[in-house]
Amino acid sequence: MELFDAIVNRRTANSKFADKKVMQEHIELLIKMSSHCPSHFNSQPWKFIAVTDEKIIHKIAKIAGDSMVQLMEDGRFLKQYRKYFRFTEEEMEKTKDGIHIDHLPAVLKPFVRTIFSETGGKVMAKFKVPRILGNDEEKLVAASPLLFVISLTKDEYKKEELSGFYSVISMGAVIQTLWLVTTALGMGMQFISTPGEIPEKWNEISGMLKIPDDFEMCAIFRMGYTDPAIKRPTIDWKSSQRKGIDELAYSNTWGKRF
Ligand SMILES: Cc1cc2nc3c(=O)[nH]c(=O)nc-3n(C[C@H](O)[C@H](O)[C@H](O)COP(=O)(O)O)c2cc1C
Repeated sequence: MELFDAIVNRRTANSKFADKKVMQEHIELLIKMSSHCPSHFNSQPWKFIAVTDEKIIHKIAKIAGDSMVQLMEDGRFLKQYRKYFRFTEEEMEKTKDGIHIDHLPAVLKPFVRTIFSETGGKVMAKFKVPRILGNDEEKLVAASPLLFVISLTKDEYKKEELSGFYSVISMGAVIQTLWLVTTALGMGMQFISTPGEIPEKWNEISGMLKIPDDFEMCAIFRMGYTDPAIKRPTIDWKSSQRKGIDELAYSNTWGKRF
């Protein structure tokens, strides 16, 4: 696959993956390509865990599902992320950012704005939306043949120091490289970030994976081979819109149209 095609065709995989193990050579390729990423002073502050053990994947899936339910029920998720939700093509066209919640059960459609509003808690509970999203999240993660975990050494990842900022930039390069390689291999990947919003859940996963104290677990992805025939999750979104060059860039100085 051409590089530019991989960049443009790269998408977050929201649906289940094909029921197929990820080939060992593809897992090694993901790690090999990531090792070529830039890092400050070539410090390579990362370590990876490729989880294919179904028992561990199922345990992490349960934690991810429970985290989604907790975040939806206590309103934190909506409070923090409501501003990114779009409900019509027109809204997406207008803002060219955010996520368009375009796929949900017919019974919920008339209430979607209310359900996903900060005051939508009662309606959301009535339609059991937290459990729907939690179950979907658990099923999605549990059915993933591979979880890819990125940890950073605390020697570099010091949040109050520049090296901490640089380590995150380097990790970003790894994440985009993983995304491009998975795209080129006909695979998909998706962040599993709900446990990351609840420290005790995140630490539970870090403990389960035996990540030592001198490293910090920073990101978990579910990965697998994509299959367009697989149906979308119960509640799903699209987010391929992007702002145009004229909205993103200036020429020579700030404000000067490109
Ligand atoms: C730091 C970060 C956290 C993200 N967390 C999630 C997540 O929890 N679940 C998810 O499905 N996508 C997550 N994403 C993916 C974004 O939602 C996605 O990149 C964006 O909507 C654009 O869609 P695309 O990746 O398909 O181009 C995350 C992306 C980033 C960079």
